[in-house]
Amino acid sequence: MLNRTMTVEEAAMRNKNVIPKLIELGIDYDMVATEKIEPVLKENDISFEDFQEMIGETNIYADLDKYKDYTKEELIKMIVTKIHPKELSLIEEIDNGFSKSIKKYYRECGEQLFVIYEIVLLIKAELVSHFSSEEEYEFKEALKNKDVDYENLIAEHEKIIGLFDRIKVLTHSYNLNLDIEEVKEIEAKMKELDIHSRRHIYIENEILFKM
Ligand SMILES: [Fe+2]
Ligand SMILES: [Fe+2]
Repeated sequence: MLNRTMTVEEAAMRNKNVIPKLIELGIDYDMVATEKIEPVLKENDISFEDFQEMIGETNIYADLDKYKDYTKEELIKMIVTKIHPKELSLIEEIDNGFSKSIKKYYRECGEQLFVIYEIVLLIKAELVSHFSSEEEYEFKEALKNKDVDYENLIAEHEKIIGLFDRIKVLTHSYNLNLDIEEVKEIEAKMKELDIHSRRHIYIENEILFKM
């Protein structure tokens, strides 16, 4: 694991992904001058935590194995009453944020925002139909202890992850570098929904669907 007080050189020796990632991000660094990693990242508007995630040091699934102790009923109840509503309300807030910001800042960055907003709307459509299918069909069948075919849901999960990956590339991991408070709020919410969705999908694919 890196820590924020390391020099770039120390960080590079600790994790082999550091240098390739810095190059990919187009970040200039001076090994000989023993620059510290955190200020170098900061100059380029990247937080230390985001960088740790980029080089694969944070595992967003690490704490999810506890759900293996849940019963099928408990797990489905949690997904339906907590996870689905949370994601629907987040995507609604993101949708509103985009439509307001595009109206307000159309001259500065309207086009740039719209490219991302289009994908957000695709994600919203996917989530709404996916959750309703789970709640109305697959989960009900599972609760009746029937043999459920999860193939469709798994394919939809992949599609959803693919859409988040596209947004991640387009926004440089939710960092558009625009000096607009509303856009920063949308970025934070998109990042939250991204992680929430990936964890949700892990719980279903790796735990619930294998019960
Ligand atoms: Fe779900
Ligand atoms: Fe799902």
